[in-house]
Amino acid sequence: MPIALICTFLWIGFVCAISFMEAWLKFRATGVTLPIGLGIGRLVFNALNKVEWVFAIAILLNLLLSKSTILSLNNLLYLLPLTLLIMQTFWLLPALDARTELHIQGQNPPPSNLHFYYVGMEFIKIVCLFIFGITLFKNTSNMSKEQIINDIEKKYQQLGENPETYLKGLLQAKPINYWDYVEVETLLTLQKPRTNFKDEEIFIMYHQVTEIFLKMMVHEIKQLVYEPFEESIWLEKLERLNRYTNMLIGSFDVMKYGMNYDDYNTFRSTLTPASGFQSVTFRLIEIYCTRLENLINEEGKKRIGENPSTNDYFEHIYWKDAGLNRTTGKKSLTLLQFEEKYLDRLIGLANKTKGETLEDKFLKINNCSETLKNKLREFDHLYNVAWPLVHLETAQHYLDLKGESKVATGGSEWKKYLHPKFQQRKFFPTLWNDNEITNWGSN
Ligand code: HEM
Repeated sequence: MPIALICTFLWIGFVCAISFMEAWLKFRATGVTLPIGLGIGRLVFNALNKVEWVFAIAILLNLLLSKSTILSLNNLLYLLPLTLLIMQTFWLLPALDARTELHIQGQNPPPSNLHFYYVGMEFIKIVCLFIFGITLFKNTSNMSKEQIINDIEKKYQQLGENPETYLKGLLQAKPINYWDYVEVETLLTLQKPRTNFKDEEIFIMYHQVTEIFLKMMVHEIKQLVYEPFEESIWLEKLERLNRYTNMLIGSFDVMKYGMNYDDYNTFRSTLTPASGFQSVTFRLIEIYCTRLENLINEEGKKRIGENPSTNDYFEHIYWKDAGLNRTTGKKSLTLLQFEEKYLDRLIGLANKTKGETLEDKFLKINNCSETLKNKLREFDHLYNVAWPLVHLETAQHYLDLKGESKVATGGSEWKKYLHPKFQQRKFFPTLWNDNEITNWGSN
């Protein structure tokens, strides 16, 4: 229908411009005599007639193709101008041409009403086409509504469901609002301090914000892991990952300077043995990003045997060093709780993503572009060096202000453990040269 609509209004435009403007205006031009004016008129009207036919045929074809009944009431408003066009083409224009010819030859033909008929027909054509066009316009916008309903019906039919039930449900559905959609009320009741120190809520909320950001990162990484490689998508997602990590790094001051020092150091003892160490989202990112062998530090590499299984890797994984005394075999409560809750899940995920981690997929890329390599390096550095360093600085700010080296809630040898130099955690080790690896965590 849009073609018919466009052609209708173009048709109106042409007829108005030529018949109601050009036809009489040209005689006012200096030097245009009656024979010259009639000569131009004959030329222009014959051209207009051909253009009108183009529009008329285009509209007719569009109506036929749209499977609407040609003889509908509205289409009569098209059929009437079409009939008038036929009359003009085969009767009026030839007759007017003949009169023009007589004028040009200097003869004076007898008076006739042919001009009045022509003007009358033009007027009727314009009025009919205008109403026809307006109705077409309304129908076109209604059609898109119909189309939407048809599509909805198709969607539910394909699911083997009754579309009507869903449409009725839509009729009853309450309009959505911000607080329900974003779950604001639930979200804002998730802060449950265990002491009366005001800043404890800041501590909880910033951890929650971080967990949400880590979840956003998992959301992006999973898509790269489970979907076929496409460089443009990887670049886009890595930019997102770098942006999220930069936000976490940039905002860590909320922890470092945003809590009262004494209050924090008092309320934190109530939180023992809980520790950020127990963030499973942090560990999920590691498992999705890299092969387990990259999560084993220098000491671990010496301990672990040949062809380690997934369980062996988890036995020697770097983060166990935060809570396991490898000489006595004793585990901290922080580590015990964490393993009891999440170890099976982490091992399951590691088995599932074996050969499919970001690093595995990157290693399979033929001729990986420098741009992509740089984005991967940037992410590796932000997540495994820059964030750990701001985190460590904050720990030092609260736990080691005057070199007193307080015990952390998770009970680790945190000064050593948290340093990237010690952890040696890298997602894409092949992207770093020997020198960079030796100096890992120095900046
Ligand atoms: C005052 C602020 C903070 C201090 C003093 C602090 C201190 C520590 C310490 C000492 C550890 C080592 C484990 C332990 O012994 O408990 C640790 C681990 C950890 N913390 Fe924090 N932390 C702070 C804020 C945060 C925040 C906001 C997060 C965000 C979720 C976080 C996430 C982690 C993670 C993921 C680990 C494990 C790191 C790893 O294994 O590499 N921490 N933190």
